[in-house]
Amino acid sequence: MLLDIQALQSMSVLTVLTGILILYFLLSSAQRIYNIYFHPLSKFPGPWYRSAFHFPYHYEQIKGHAPHNYIKLHEKHGPVVRIGPDQLSFTCSQAYKDIYGFHSHRRQVPKDFKRFPNVPIDWPLFGSDDGEHSRLRRLVAHAFSETALREQEPLIQSHIHGLVQKIRSVIDVDPETHFDMSKYFDLLSFDIITDLTYGESFDGVRTGETNQLLKDLYQGSKLNPILLTSWDYAPLMWLLKFLFSLPKAKELQEGEEKGQKDRMNRRRAKGTDAKKDFMSYILVDEGKDNDSLTENEILGLARLFVGAGGEEPASMMSTILYYLLTNPSAHDRARKEIRDAFVSIEEINNVKLAQLPYLGAVISETFRIHHSGAQRFSRRTTRTEMIGGYEVPPNTSVDVNHHVIGRVSANYAEPTFFAPERWLSETLDQFKFDDKAALQPFATGPRACLGKNVAYLEIRTTLAYLLWTFDMELIGDSKDWIQGQKMKLIWHRPPMNVGFKVR
Ligand code: HEM
Repeated sequence: MLLDIQALQSMSVLTVLTGILILYFLLSSAQRIYNIYFHPLSKFPGPWYRSAFHFPYHYEQIKGHAPHNYIKLHEKHGPVVRIGPDQLSFTCSQAYKDIYGFHSHRRQVPKDFKRFPNVPIDWPLFGSDDGEHSRLRRLVAHAFSETALREQEPLIQSHIHGLVQKIRSVIDVDPETHFDMSKYFDLLSFDIITDLTYGESFDGVRTGETNQLLKDLYQGSKLNPILLTSWDYAPLMWLLKFLFSLPKAKELQEGEEKGQKDRMNRRRAKGTDAKKDFMSYILVDEGKDNDSLTENEILGLARLFVGAGGEEPASMMSTILYYLLTNPSAHDRARKEIRDAFVSIEEINNVKLAQLPYLGAVISETFRIHHSGAQRFSRRTTRTEMIGGYEVPPNTSVDVNHHVIGRVSANYAEPTFFAPERWLSETLDQFKFDDKAALQPFATGPRACLGKNVAYLEIRTTLAYLLWTFDMELIGDSKDWIQGQKMKLIWHRPPMNVGFKVR
């Protein structure tokens, strides 16, 4: 009798479990069928499995293949593709304006933090809602003005000069030494951005040492796809929350925050005697009135400046140098333009560099062919919106991927071909139908890049100093450097070995 009851109990547990599984399977299938055939996005083109499931999107994020996949999808399906059950990707220039632009008659499409590069959302400005964002942007804009840039130029130049000196001093001793320029551009860019933000740099170029911040960035970026995935899979989210609440994780975060506070205190102590940097503008207004920035906001902004302004210029400088060194005619022309324009390296300045057409064309073409920010900067519709001529329902995650839009043949003839001439007035017939408006490397609208002018100055000056001083060549495997790079929040760049000769 006892045995019978036990058998009955274990059978009923089994039956309940089987019932739950069957129910889950039925509900899940119903959800997939709904997603494919009845969902408000079902009229948009794209593979059925992407309409049905979230996992193809998460899998490509984890593998780092997402932008490569989106190019193929857009080539097949056109300017709008449903890349996930609730996600649309656009590749027409009108979509840039509709998603990110200024609109006088309606509010902007808000950021979609569920599908956004998962930076800490407590970054003020980047993670702020629209009202708070416009207040913060107004309070920091003057640190990025043309006047501020002119005052910050000597600081930026001095770091780039340090790079030239470093290379010269090493090849003077051993002319065969090669430099991993992908690493050195990281070191340079982080030296510049930390000096502009905290008034002190990691001295990375001089020492050749990768600092902890950079190491953390590369390690942390690999976690980004997993954080993104957790939004769609609750158990993973619980697990991450638990791991982040462990004492070791808290200790690491507190250590990072303390280091940052100490750096900012040292910058504060220098007051107005410091070299001109971002804080020369921001700290003077601290506590002026009720509206001014708080100490915590300033700390958060400093973290944002270093996070947003360190890796991207380095990635672009590496990519530009790669394309120049693999395209001899472009390299010759850029080098000649720089060497003809300046008699000495001391003469090189941003105002004059901005007027050099070929250098400008090389930079634009590199942004088009391999943009540093190839992650999705997603927004989420809160009501029906017209985007790129399509009626998009509410609660849809939408974006234009800066890398993908430059690589589709609907926008550019021969999109995989590096041709700076596209951007010149003498443009060849084959490129005359290119959609120039599809290039918005720093985005557009109220949340466009705040550091655009700083980035251009840094990129132009670095290239000009190097091209003016050295003859350069790619060494060995680095000729394939661009192949197979993975995008996990940032491009994971392999070493790029370059040989130098003083001209
Ligand atoms: C090649 C270099 C760079 C590229 C391609 C780039 C690109 C971008 C893009 C596309 C956005 C808009 C993201 C969105 O849609 O929300 C952005 C935002 C931002 N960038 Fe950059 N950026 C670069 C360098 C810099 C530098 C040097 C700084 C210096 C601090 C900087 C600071 C910022 C800030 C503060 C924002 C947030 C603006 C806001 O939300 O109002 N960026 N950047």
